[in-house]
Amino acid sequence: MLLSYLRERLRLTGTKYGCGGGGCGACTVMVSRYQPGTKTILHYSANACLLPVCQLQGAAVTTVEGIGNTKTRVHPVQERIAKAHGSQCGFCTPGMVMSMYTLLRNKPQPNMEDITVALGGNLCRCTGYRPIVDGCKTFSPMCFVGTHDIDCVFQEPPPQLFDQEDLLPLDPTQDLIFPPELILMAEMEPQVSQLFRGERMVWVSPVSLEELIQLKTSHPQAPLVMGNTNIGPDIKFKGAWHPIIISPTRVQELFEVTKTPQGVCFGAGCSLSVVKALLEGLVQEIPEEKTEIYRSLLQQLGNLGGQQIRNVASIGGNIVSAYPNSDLNPVFAAGNCTLNVVSKSEEILLNKDFFVGFGKTSLKPDEIVLSVFIPVSRQGEFMRAFRQAPRKENALATVTTGMRVMFIEGSSVVKELSIYYGGVGPCTVSATKTCAAVIGRKWDEQTLSDAYTQLLDEISLSPSHPGGQVEFRRSLTLSLLFKFNLQMLHKLWEMNVIQEDLSEGVSSAIRPLPKQLQPSLQEFQAVVKGQSGDDPVGRPIMHRSAISQATGEAVYCDDIPKMDGELHLVLVTSTRPHAKILDIDISEALRVPGVVDVITSKDIPGKKFRTFTGIDEDILAQNEVLDGRVADINYVHKCYCQVSCVGHMVCAVVADNRKQAKRGAALVKIAYEDQPGPVFTVEEAIEKQSFFLPQRMIERGNVDEAFDKVDHIYEGEIRLGGQEHFYMETQSMVVVPSGEERELKVYISCQHPTYAQESIAETLGIPSNRVSCHVKRVGGAFGGKVTKTSIIACITSVAAWKTGRAVRCVLERGEDMLITGARHPVLGKHKVGFMNDGRIIAADLHYYANSGNTADESLLVIEKILLHLDNAYKVPNLRGRSVACKTNLPSNTAFRGFGVPQSMLVTENMINDVAMKLGCNAEEIREINMYKEVSLTHYKFEFDPKNLLRCWDECKEKSDYGSRRKSVAQFNQQNRWKKRGMATIPIKYGIAFSDGFLNQAASLVHIYKDGSVLVSHGGTEMGQGIHTKMQQVASRELHIPASLIHITETNTSAVPNTCPSAASFGTDANGMAVKDACEILYQRLEPVRKQNPEGTWQTWVTSAFIQRISLSATGYYRGHDLYMDWEKQEGQPYAYFTYGACCSEVEVDCLTGDYRTVRTDIVMDIGRSINPSVDIGQIEGAFIQGLGLYTMEELKFSPSGVLYTRGPSQYKIPAVCDIPLQFNVYLLSGSDNPHAIYSSKGIGEPVLFLGSSVFFAIKDAVAAARVEAGMVGPFTLNSPATPERTCLACNTPFTQKVRRCHQPASLNSLPTPTHNS
Ligand SMILES: Cc1cc2nc3c(=O)[nH]c(=O)nc-3n(C[C@H](O)[C@H](O)[C@H](O)COP(=O)(O)OP(=O)(O)OC[C@H]3O[C@@H](n4cnc5c(N)ncnc54)[C@H](O)[C@@H]3O)c2cc1C
Ligand code: FES
Ligand code: FES
Repeated sequence: MLLSYLRERLRLTGTKYGCGGGGCGACTVMVSRYQPGTKTILHYSANACLLPVCQLQGAAVTTVEGIGNTKTRVHPVQERIAKAHGSQCGFCTPGMVMSMYTLLRNKPQPNMEDITVALGGNLCRCTGYRPIVDGCKTFSPMCFVGTHDIDCVFQEPPPQLFDQEDLLPLDPTQDLIFPPELILMAEMEPQVSQLFRGERMVWVSPVSLEELIQLKTSHPQAPLVMGNTNIGPDIKFKGAWHPIIISPTRVQELFEVTKTPQGVCFGAGCSLSVVKALLEGLVQEIPEEKTEIYRSLLQQLGNLGGQQIRNVASIGGNIVSAYPNSDLNPVFAAGNCTLNVVSKSEEILLNKDFFVGFGKTSLKPDEIVLSVFIPVSRQGEFMRAFRQAPRKENALATVTTGMRVMFIEGSSVVKELSIYYGGVGPCTVSATKTCAAVIGRKWDEQTLSDAYTQLLDEISLSPSHPGGQVEFRRSLTLSLLFKFNLQMLHKLWEMNVIQEDLSEGVSSAIRPLPKQLQPSLQEFQAVVKGQSGDDPVGRPIMHRSAISQATGEAVYCDDIPKMDGELHLVLVTSTRPHAKILDIDISEALRVPGVVDVITSKDIPGKKFRTFTGIDEDILAQNEVLDGRVADINYVHKCYCQVSCVGHMVCAVVADNRKQAKRGAALVKIAYEDQPGPVFTVEEAIEKQSFFLPQRMIERGNVDEAFDKVDHIYEGEIRLGGQEHFYMETQSMVVVPSGEERELKVYISCQHPTYAQESIAETLGIPSNRVSCHVKRVGGAFGGKVTKTSIIACITSVAAWKTGRAVRCVLERGEDMLITGARHPVLGKHKVGFMNDGRIIAADLHYYANSGNTADESLLVIEKILLHLDNAYKVPNLRGRSVACKTNLPSNTAFRGFGVPQSMLVTENMINDVAMKLGCNAEEIREINMYKEVSLTHYKFEFDPKNLLRCWDECKEKSDYGSRRKSVAQFNQQNRWKKRGMATIPIKYGIAFSDGFLNQAASLVHIYKDGSVLVSHGGTEMGQGIHTKMQQVASRELHIPASLIHITETNTSAVPNTCPSAASFGTDANGMAVKDACEILYQRLEPVRKQNPEGTWQTWVTSAFIQRISLSATGYYRGHDLYMDWEKQEGQPYAYFTYGACCSEVEVDCLTGDYRTVRTDIVMDIGRSINPSVDIGQIEGAFIQGLGLYTMEELKFSPSGVLYTRGPSQYKIPAVCDIPLQFNVYLLSGSDNPHAIYSSKGIGEPVLFLGSSVFFAIKDAVAAARVEAGMVGPFTLNSPATPERTCLACNTPFTQKVRRCHQPASLNSLPTPTHNS
């Protein structure tokens, strides 16, 4: 593939690997091709990970390196994304840049929709997208960044995050030209067929149709690779192998487009983007009534894949791939489209007989689809397409459909009806019986009522339907037909066939959700008047590596050039959840050319396990050799070791390159003996008492007694699913033995280099002083690169130790998701006692966290859960219990918030239940119970909630909560099928590690003779901007411009014994350490300054050197004396609290569960921000990650504990389509914090929980929907509130009908479409 060619052969490492399957956009490049026919050049973005190099004959590929760099000229796209603060960890940035760059090559003045479409196929896990969009928006004359028209109380205009005047102009003349030799080649050179022969396959690229037919006849099993978006992932992820591949991308006949009065005929090779553009043109050109099918296709094409996929995926490929949930096939089939197939004399109707099974059509292996004919619609014929997917864009649909009806002229009598669904069977399926039951009847209430019943009977999914969601899918089949029904009723009314149009309320079913992004606002305080212009503290300074990240020059771990003799390591993991390993047979693996060794636990020279919170965890499945028998059996290891989850690391294969190691790993044969009774859920763990101990409990007041005195008691529960870190850079490391004195250099992407260093040293049985860990930057971590990274580093080091060669380990996305665990899923139960006036008097909360198969940090997570269960509320009698459940799932680990997002969701859900019980808004209950004055928490920690209340009040005011609440109520009155909901959520978040010793930090600052300064500190740069902030600190303390200061990599040889960059404490701790070192140095220079007060920094430094004053200093920060005594149930576990509040409003489509966040306002108290752009970046990024956690990200396991969701195709993180349409962030003014550097506050984690405002807003909307069904009072909505859960909770007549479908008597009650109900 082009990606490995670029990265490994050409050493162009700006293009990144994020998933390898076309789902993340990190590998985006621009492909340009000359079109001899039109003499134009076509530019399109594409995913290099799916682009076969053999297909690129005659094409020019532009990578991020090709458009600009820091040595010559940075391209405006690179500059603007960087300056708008759109690059945090930067791993996604080159891909974003290339998507935007390609758009500008095609349209230098794009509009907002162009921009969001162009970025739709690119994922970012850090920024929350708003700053990326803002940077891109500067190219659009129509778009406006920020809002300046707010009531301005400042004397001067409010400070902006970046200066739009200070941007390079876009000058298309500076762009690379298309290589003239390629034009000449295309014009002059005859096209000849090509053949590439690889190690295991042959690639043939014919140029004529005859040749193609011949090839296909001789090799009927060879696939035709067009866009490679189906075949590529099949080869990569499913192990498909094709000895011969035919690539007909140069066969002209496959790209011809013919327009006739009857319709349009697309060559099967036309890309979906080309089809989309042509259909868009046709829709403008020809009368509307003829374009019903075209518009339906456009409806689907708008949401199918991302732009990069649509640019290469072919229309023929989509049809022949015959995905069960193809978006186009139901429309083609319902729309009477036909295929022109080579070798068949007649056209083939694309109907139910064509799709015969999963990925199968009725085409014979040697048949080739030449073209697809799409007819114009006839008079009286109407067509619609609908889809519902786990994410609004770039996600395969759960259910997708094409529906076509033709009425007898002048009447509502149905002449033809054709309905096809995707997602409800092994292939595109026809609702033939339903259609037959309707044809000949009037399109009215009774007919459709019968149709729903028939449809339910006809589309009946088995409980084991692949992908599950059976109830939801069945509901969708009905509700999508209902939408079609309403659209047709409206049409019939427009045609004067029926008298009554849809009422306003009912037509809400067919009105799309809002999607237009609005200008957003980021408000922060300007620096104090009089602050020196050279002092960068408090200013929105760009991330110091943003430009290098945007140009692709920034070096991540896997970008380090290959070392001499380097090997690649691939892990072999268990396929059983709970088993004894009987044999590990590595003989075949060792026979693979290039495979050098297989590492098992017996190769570990030192400690074979890691001990965390007192519990041991194997590095590799322990391999206890039986009676030395292994020595006799060549390469067969007899052992009795246990594996306790699918994904448990058993051994590792090292080979000359990754491909060989992977092939070897696939050939390691493990014989298992399954053990009885694996435990997967917390319920099973509770039943079997499978826990990691100790359990934790904390109580304030007397909960049991208090329950006797309250007006109401309510018990409820909520489940919160886990969350995959989905850092864009997967776990990566290179371990290099120096060859002498047992020294190892470890280049690693991790948050805690010292822990990696110690772990490696213990595993190898050598002192820590021989291992140096180097972290230049981390492409996102979010808690997932602490313990898990260290264990993988231990294994990689054993391999390097044993072979004496450098070893690289970079996990593929699927491996990473399988092995490294996630956020702990939690079951939370509450019993709450409250008064009629809303006061909560007693609460008893139980938390069960699913830890997986090892303890990892789970015991610390369950402690943090209890420390935060009060959130912002003073509950006089409060008890919490938490337990870490030991299960046979992959071990879960730290994730941004470390249990707090789980803890507080349960608390807020309890508040919500109280409100629903009392029939009031949850905000009222929140206000009644909030901490109001200086108080003690349940662990007796004194604090002043003044700023919590200020955030709450300001949030309500800025969001215009009161009047919008009324509008929401009014909206809900007027709309039957769309509901709006609002929620305002507060947060009080404790900063620092509750183990005091983890709060220390150190730094090392050197001043060189030329005056330049080098700073090392213990924090790792993961996108959170710590290096930028450290540069600001050093600049202020040394009184020199930031440009003189360089922050070097984090290196355990420079700064030893560092603490993890976590707990939102990195800047607090390291900032103080850097400050300390700089203060020491500044004081040392005092004599020379006094000697020469008029001197400059450079002259003072030179004098100091001559006077033998040391220009190097270490800085140290001891940290706060924090502790938590669980025996006494009291402590001082935090340095201070960060406060905030967030108000979100959503609109929900009750029929599909789809939703849109209409607006979010966040007010955060982060003291005096050291860098408002970095801090706002953390706020927005964390919020969107929280939105993902609570509304869309869902880890799915098979009943036997196999993780299904192993890539962006199955696991959906928020994309640009998910950001709130209006997203305002305000930093609380006038806040001080005596406990942290420069009065700032930690902000990395707190805001993630505020994403739950979207969850509770959805729940609020669902509550309104349930009222329509006569249901009031508390109800359970588990997290994430996916479209599935949301739709089913709305309890529409359709979901009810599906639930009742076993009771035929009740099938007749149907919604009345033409009246408000
Ligand atoms: C990240 C991602 C997201 C996606 N999202 C969606 C989505 O939302 N909705 C959706 O419907 N699809 C989606 N897809 C699927 C995508 O649309 C199809 O994979 C694509 O259309 C297949 O076209 P291709 O040219 O890439 O096929 P290839 O992979 O090149 O080929 C696929 C198959 O078609 C056969 N074939 C190709 N052309 C011909 C021909 N002319 N005659 C006979 N056989 C032929 C090949 O032999 C092969 O078996 C997604 C795919 C990816 C990777
Ligand atoms: S790496 Fe290519 S799309 Fe993810
Ligand atoms: S900046 Fe986008 S993934 Fe980190």
